[in-house]
Amino acid sequence: MKTVRLVITGNPGVGKHTSAQLVARELKAEIIDINKVALDNGAVLEKTGKGIEVDTKKASKLVANILNKKKKGSFVIVGHLAPYVMKKSAGIDMAAVLRRSPRKLEETLLERKYIREKVNENVSAEILGISLYDSIKAFGKRKVAEFDTTGKTPEQTAEEIIATVQKERPRRSGSVDWLAVISEEEVQRYFSY
Ligand SMILES: Nc1ncnc2c1ncn2[C@@H]1O[C@H](COP(=O)(O)OP(=O)(O)OP(=O)(O)O)[C@@H](O)[C@H]1O
Ligand SMILES: [Mg+2]
Repeated sequence: MKTVRLVITGNPGVGKHTSAQLVARELKAEIIDINKVALDNGAVLEKTGKGIEVDTKKASKLVANILNKKKKGSFVIVGHLAPYVMKKSAGIDMAAVLRRSPRKLEETLLERKYIREKVNENVSAEILGISLYDSIKAFGKRKVAEFDTTGKTPEQTAEEIIATVQKERPRRSGSVDWLAVISEEEVQRYFSY
């Protein structure tokens, strides 16, 4: 089996960890969870009511160290902070940016009991495609592939990611446009926080 070096990123709640587990099992890859690496090594700036704030500078060094030691074998790096803690020189094969429709993402985050401010902040970031934009800046357009998880099962998403990473051709992104599918009223609501 070919060695695969994959990043799975995207906004909180889009399904990164759920699909990463399935992808990693299928590819016999090791999962490197950025949040876990940061938490286990004290790379945390503060714990607020809204969650933890990771020290991205420290986390970046920690992840680079792990990758330097990892000379062989497949890995899947998971986390919404991937574009901010990974270096282009990490030589990954693909950065999968998972997307989810604003309404479905809102549902998921409310189920998690996130406070309204944090829900709106994350849904707004998804509407604007910040994770995709920052991933393209960090990894380069040819490495970034976008996956819409809306209405798909985690298994379907994992399968799509695996099929795409195994192809050598440039990755594709830019087809998801939530502004085209939500109303003006929803935009106003999500952007008030
Ligand atoms: N197509 C899909 N792929 C992955 N997860 C999905 C999909 N559809 C629904 N889900 C569900 O979405 C929920 C959120 O997934 P998950 O916890 O993996 O998100 P996450 O992106 O890792 O969030 P965080 O960044 O906060 O860790 C889970 O309940 C998962 O089962
Ligand atoms: Mg997660």
